[in-house]
Order: sequence, then structure tokens, then C-alpha cells
Amino acid sequence: MKKILVIHGPNLNLLGEREPEIYGHDTLDDINAALTNAAAELGVEIDCRQSNSESEIIEWLQAERKNVAGLIINPAGFSHTSVVLLDTLLACQIPTVEVHLSNLYKREEFRQKSLTARAAVGIISGLGKQGYLLALRYLVESI
Ligand code: DQA
Repeated sequence: MKKILVIHGPNLNLLGEREPEIYGHDTLDDINAALTNAAAELGVEIDCRQSNSESEIIEWLQAERKNVAGLIINPAGFSHTSVVLLDTLLACQIPTVEVHLSNLYKREEFRQKSLTARAAVGIISGLGKQGYLLALRYLVESI
């Protein structure tokens, strides 16, 4: 069975209580449960992880690069800062969709540039939990 890796970056463990007016009321468990249900319906395995550590995310990507058919990643704040994460994503060559809960283009200027998006097939920004589900559907149909 094909496996999709989902990586949630820093502070996304606080979803539900973190700035709900921006990020909504869904918790990370809600998002992962919706992804797990959708993956079962679509016939793929899903592995959802969250980390506040850039190095842990890099280790996961390197270790899983040959085991997964696709990646959904919300790099959170690392999107705007991390050349290292961009390099890792480019090196790992996993078909990737970058997801942001909020619409980056409605927000501060510094959020309007994602360094990591360069390594993605596409990005979905502003659709909340639905963005992850659309990303999953896209990957399953395209891999
Ligand atoms: C985010 C947007 C980022 O700018 C922010 O640092 C996050 C979450 C989003 O999902 O909207 O932590 O990636």
C-alpha cells in the first residue's frame, strides 16, 4: 500500500488554542483524524507527525524519502526562514504539496514568501483543514 507522509511544523501542536481567529478551531488531532479517515477511503497508508524541531523534521524526511509516495507538509514558520529545509526537500525528491491553514497573502509581508514552496508541486493556503484533505486527494490521484 502506498504511504503518504504528513509533517506539521512548529506550533501546530497548539492548534485549537493558538490564534483561533487565524488558524481556526480544529485541533491537530481533528486534522489528523480527518486525514486518516480520508486515507482509508482512498486506500493509502498515512503517517502524520508534528515537530517543533527543524532537525527532527530533516531527519524524518531523509529517513522516509524512499519509503513514501508523497508528502504533505505545513512547514509553519520554517516556510519563511529555512533554506536548510528547502535543501532537504529538494534533496529528498518526494512529490510534495505544501499546505498552510491561513491565507499567507492576506497576512504580514514576511509570510508572503515561502522558501520551501519552491520544492513543492503546489501549495494550498487559506483553506484550513480542507487544504490537507485536498492535498491528500491530489497526491493519491497523481502518484
Ligand atoms: C502557517 C502560516 C505560517 O506563517 C505560520 O508561521 C504558521 C502556520 C499556516 O498554516 O497558516 O505557523 O503555516
